[in-house]
Amino acid sequence: MEYSTKISERMWNLPDKGELEAQREESFIDDIIQKSHIERELLQNLEGVRTAFDGGAGSGRFSILLAKRGIHVTHFDISQPMIDKAKELAAKEGVLEQITFVKGALEDLSAYEDRSFDLVMSFDAPISYTYPKQEEVIKNLVRIAGKKIIISVSSRLGALPYLANPLQKNQFILDKNSTDGWIQWCLNNRDSMIESFRFNPDACNNTLATGFMGDVEETKAAYDRGETPWCITYHFMPEELQKILQNNGVKNVELAGPGAFARTMPNELLVKIMHDPKQKEEFLEFCHTYDSNPYVCGMGKDNLLAKGDIM
Ligand SMILES: C[S@@+](CC[C@H](N)C(=O)[O-])C[C@H]1O[C@@H](n2cnc3c(N)ncnc32)[C@H](O)[C@@H]1O
Repeated sequence: MEYSTKISERMWNLPDKGELEAQREESFIDDIIQKSHIERELLQNLEGVRTAFDGGAGSGRFSILLAKRGIHVTHFDISQPMIDKAKELAAKEGVLEQITFVKGALEDLSAYEDRSFDLVMSFDAPISYTYPKQEEVIKNLVRIAGKKIIISVSSRLGALPYLANPLQKNQFILDKNSTDGWIQWCLNNRDSMIESFRFNPDACNNTLATGFMGDVEETKAAYDRGETPWCITYHFMPEELQKILQNNGVKNVELAGPGAFARTMPNELLVKIMHDPKQKEEFLEFCHTYDSNPYVCGMGKDNLLAKGDIM
């Protein structure tokens, strides 16, 4: 088994992962925007879709959404805690019967015949965690898709400003009084992060050239020491992802960068918008429009979204 698969499995198998992932939109505005963008994309692309495959489906944010619309979804994920959480949420929503849960790694999709599913989707970077197999994984996701493919992967141009900016998540905190551990960490460390900050051109240039943040070999060594490092994550350039999809026969490929518009706004204004239901709905609608423009497709939160047709 590749290091990336083993590292991903260990990390996503942490017992609290399912619970944490299921609460993301309660803490951070960029997560609200990303989820809203993907939901809009899915709901606009369901014509003729009866079956869907969700690769790296997590706690079921999107598998449950589609199941509620009568689609039979195969919810595929490497982590049992994530699957358990998704089952619990699917039961609450009354759609357990609409979903087939499968524990597996995207690196092996040999159980599925060509064109097995009308829609194939994979959101918020599972494909990026399969390095160095990411191209093969995309090829197989296209292979099992019958009508449409919609995926989001880690974005090189989108993630880099996060890397260069230690206050990255502070901009998107929804409630500064939240007891969420990550929010409190961001707030408590804000001043020291500014104080110790020094722009690091080498780190930025390295990520821009390689698609990795940090040192892949060090991540493997940490895994071997029994630690649980963050997954080896391959960040794609927009035209790279577009070409991989086109080379595998996907037509009408369109890219988007969910979060690009919101990135231009300070926290105080984003929080204000989020607390007014009418403004929030209008803002999320406009974010979807702006972030779907190909000229900003690399500048989203940290995900690059792509969709296309299988002909
Ligand atoms: C950031 S979460 C995204 C979950 C879901 N797609 C969403 O947007 O809510 C990434 C998910 O990918 C799964 N994953 C990571 N590596 C994987 C692999 N190699 N094969 C299948 N699933 C994987 C993790 O277990 C986790 O549930």
